Amino acid sequence: MTMTQKAIKIATTKIIGSSQRGTRGVDTTTTARSSSLMRGAIKGQQRWYDQRSSSSRKSSVSFKTRSASRRSPVVHATADDGYKVAVLGAAGGIGQSLSLLLKMNPMISDLALYDVGAIVKGVAVDLSHCNTASTVNGYCGNEELGQALKGCDLVIIPAGVPRKPGMTRDDLFSINAGIVRDLTQGVADHCPNAVVAIISNPVNSTVPIACEVMKKSGTFDKRKILGVTTLDIVRSDEFVSTLKGLDVNDVDVPVIGGHAGITILPLLSQTFPQTSFSKKETEDLTVRIQNAGTEVVEAKAGGGSATLSMAYAAARMGEAILRGLSGESDVYECSYVSSDIVPDMPYFATKCKFGKDGIEEVMPIGDITAYEQEWLDKLKPELKAQIDKGIAFVADAP
Ligand SMILES: NC(=O)c1ccc[n+]([C@@H]2O[C@H](COP(=O)([O-])OP(=O)(O)OC[C@H]3O[C@@H](n4cnc5c(N)ncnc54)[C@H](O)[C@@H]3O)[C@@H](O)[C@H]2O)c1
Repeated sequence: MTMTQKAIKIATTKIIGSSQRGTRGVDTTTTARSSSLMRGAIKGQQRWYDQRSSSSRKSSVSFKTRSASRRSPVVHATADDGYKVAVLGAAGGIGQSLSLLLKMNPMISDLALYDVGAIVKGVAVDLSHCNTASTVNGYCGNEELGQALKGCDLVIIPAGVPRKPGMTRDDLFSINAGIVRDLTQGVADHCPNAVVAIISNPVNSTVPIACEVMKKSGTFDKRKILGVTTLDIVRSDEFVSTLKGLDVNDVDVPVIGGHAGITILPLLSQTFPQTSFSKKETEDLTVRIQNAGTEVVEAKAGGGSATLSMAYAAARMGEAILRGLSGESDVYECSYVSSDIVPDMPYFATKCKFGKDGIEEVMPIGDITAYEQEWLDKLKPELKAQIDKGIAFVADAP
């Protein structure tokens, strides 16, 4: 089936799905709310995992799996002609939660779970018992990587070690760089046209590594590789809405730069809806967003880094990518990509428009304040060093 046929099929499925919800007695309060969680990022779309509890904005995502008609309001499509998505590192903390969220996405027909840990096969069997439309298969070890990747439209990579207290993301480089290099080589060999979304840290370096691998293989397409920085936006939206008493469904804070420490730059001056912050609020929020990952690492006290919020953020990013591939317009997310928006920064996170071929357009930074400009000036040398480290890792390889 061609991509255009897929797009038509998915669009039809969505229309049928909406009308089903209207006629089968699903909680209409819930479905009405479900259109707004990511309004700032991807405007006006119904989102399958945006089922917020009515009791409190702070409540977690709540799937009301059974309506009066005993039909799930969450999954309502037959995804036989949907997309194939692979999760590489699917047995891990992020990988398992992300796979569950992807299993609930009606745009996906085929979910491939890959890991070097043998438990991945069991994770796939477990997930395959969920009565949603997609099929799930588990693949373990390098000899099965090709099977997992063959025919993929989207590959999401959370493989690698997470941080422990006291570590920076850059400290993970020595292990994760090689993992991302080898997995990207797999993508180049088996599904070079897939969009690749990299979660494995240090994202500032692993994305350049993936791009260099693709370049060496002659399969590089800058529209197809991105670093997932969505968690920085998710956190910013949550922190700002809490501080300001705003409906989190309406808040959108662009976050630019990279994904480590001071390279994370929230543009609070561009918060939607327009919101004013005192100098202290701006300073405190900026630093908290930059260190939010460390907040989780310290709270987990040696048990790893963010997994659940990361899986949620990656599911949102994955959905944006698939909506773009399916031909929807007006799909935007900040992501870390090959870019010429900032001079001398070959990779940079800004808002991107997603379309039928992946990243359709990298948007400019826009107007920023003197305070934000100060941070931008400060982050550039650090980000550049991490980019160069990634590029050198592949270039210097024998
Ligand atoms: N981008 C972000 O915002 C963000 C946020 C949180 C964590 N992370 C990163 O995500 C990564 C994963 O975190 P986690 O908490 O899920 O870790 P985890 O240890 O729970 O899981 C990692 C998984 O990767 C697997 N793995 C290791 N080498 C592999 C290989 N060569 N091929 C396939 N799978 C392999 C492991 O077996 C494990 O199942 C870490 O690098 C972490 O720093 C990124």
